[in-house]
Amino acid sequence: MTRQKILITGASSGLGAGMARAFAAQGRDLALCARRVERLEELKAEILDKHPYAKVAIAALDVDDHEAIPRVFNELSEELGGIDRVIVNAGIGKGWPLGQGKPWANKATINTNLISGMVQIETALEMFHKAGGGHLVLISSVLGNTGVPGGKAAYCASKAGMTSLGESLRAEYDKGPIRITVIEPGYIESEMTAKSATTLLMVDNETGVRAMVAAIEKEKGRAVVPSWPWAPLTQIMRLLPPKYTKRFA
Ligand SMILES: NC(=O)c1ccc[n+]([C@@H]2O[C@H](COP(=O)([O-])OP(=O)(O)OC[C@H]3O[C@@H](n4cnc5c(N)ncnc54)[C@H](OP(=O)(O)O)[C@@H]3O)[C@@H](O)[C@H]2O)c1
Repeated sequence: MTRQKILITGASSGLGAGMARAFAAQGRDLALCARRVERLEELKAEILDKHPYAKVAIAALDVDDHEAIPRVFNELSEELGGIDRVIVNAGIGKGWPLGQGKPWANKATINTNLISGMVQIETALEMFHKAGGGHLVLISSVLGNTGVPGGKAAYCASKAGMTSLGESLRAEYDKGPIRITVIEPGYIESEMTAKSATTLLMVDNETGVRAMVAAIEKEKGRAVVPSWPWAPLTQIMRLLPPKYTKRFA
């Protein structure tokens, strides 16, 4: 089944913008949202330059404004005449070692990645119930499979939570009509990873996004991307004694 109308949150940079470019190249209609609307305007212009017949709707959305999520999703849906796939992608990587005086940074990450992610999930599922189906994609992380020492503890927890929500929904919608996909990216170039000290096995944005889009299109239940070397590595991450996880931090 071709999911023609695709909504992506956090589409102003990194993986979200990369997925928008990749789906536009496949002739899909796009609903793109983020806080930096000027970046969305630039992306829309770039996509229309390459694909003049593409349909691209954009909207300013701060996903931490939970009341705005259903309003903006519904406005974008009206503009495109429905939404077939929602990609819950908006996320941040703020954080500080727990107990060392910056709880606001850790709270912000849990709030945006998990609580605001859950509100996006609730909204998307309501839309899909009304429409009789749809494809919900959750962008989690390989770090949802482990904990790491230092400033990424809250980030790991937020992504473990996101994966867990996805696994519950996969059980809930086992027989459809809504399809659920949990994507667990390894390290892929983006604004977020540019700020991070970790360059472990980092791939460029295009390579990473290609793997993400391929897994999303197959509507896999759960996919680690790029699968090599991250699929075997995540198995190891799950078993690794905590003192050896520093390499992933
Ligand atoms: N890159 C990786 O290696 C990697 C690995 C695993 C998982 N991920 C996940 O992939 C997703 C995308 O991250 P990225 O790497 O592409 O980072 P990025 O380049 O920093 O992009 C993050 C996106 O999220 C949006 N965003 C952040 N806070 C938001 C808010 N409150 N409301 C609305 N939009 C918000 C940003 O848009 P505005 O600032 O314009 O709002 C931006 O478009 C995240 O969920 C991240 O955790 C990334």
